Amino acid sequence: MILFHAKRISKTETYSGIPMELISVAALAENHVIGNDGEVPWNIPEDRQQYRMRIADAPVILGRVTFDLMRDDLPSSIQIVISRSDHRHDTQTTFSASSVSEAVDVVEDHNADSAYVIGGGSIFQLFQPHLDRMVLSRIPGEYDGDAFYPEWDRDSWSLTESTEYEEFSVEEWARTPDQN
Ligand SMILES: NC(=O)c1ccc[n+]([C@@H]2O[C@H](COP(=O)([O-])OP(=O)(O)OC[C@H]3O[C@@H](n4cnc5c(N)ncnc54)[C@H](OP(=O)(O)O)[C@@H]3O)[C@@H](O)[C@H]2O)c1
Repeated sequence: MILFHAKRISKTETYSGIPMELISVAALAENHVIGNDGEVPWNIPEDRQQYRMRIADAPVILGRVTFDLMRDDLPSSIQIVISRSDHRHDTQTTFSASSVSEAVDVVEDHNADSAYVIGGGSIFQLFQPHLDRMVLSRIPGEYDGDAFYPEWDRDSWSLTESTEYEEFSVEEWARTPDQN
């Protein structure tokens, strides 16, 4: 008999104990601005392209405002829209949730083992404590804005990869393993 001892990463080994990986994907300026008056305050096609490709294959979790802004060109094949309102408008691809745990339930219902959290500001804030990874496009300079990516505790996160593009860089961050 042949025994296989390959290490299996259990789905429950995520940071939060939620049985899936939650990964934020955002583009932020040096002052953490991500949006202004309903728009992203820069126009970098190469960033939009790499972002769209990255999030194409897993459910995305997004705030109701960002969903409304993206209605004409929805990302990914499953969108989970966070809202406090009772208006349920579930379709074949769009699902409503009113909390982190409801959003996670929807991801689980689709048998996905990861989901991308794609904003905007209030949803990045809401999910930040539950994230396993962050993929951040760093846009040079400071911008006026009314939506922000939250600060994170540098002791709890490690920069694992950084890729330079002409007009921006993409940083990948992972939770630093617990030393205890
Ligand atoms: N640069 C980037 O990577 C990036 C990415 C995405 C968006 N953006 C920008 O971000 C801005 C939008 O961000 P935003 O913060 O204004 O809006 P948002 O996060 O997209 O959506 C806000 C809405 O989410 C719901 N919500 C928020 N907190 C909640 C909670 N704790 N529980 C339940 N529902 C909750 C509420 O919906 P209801 O009102 O329906 O209750 C709220 O009005 C825009 O400027 C957009 O262009 C930038």
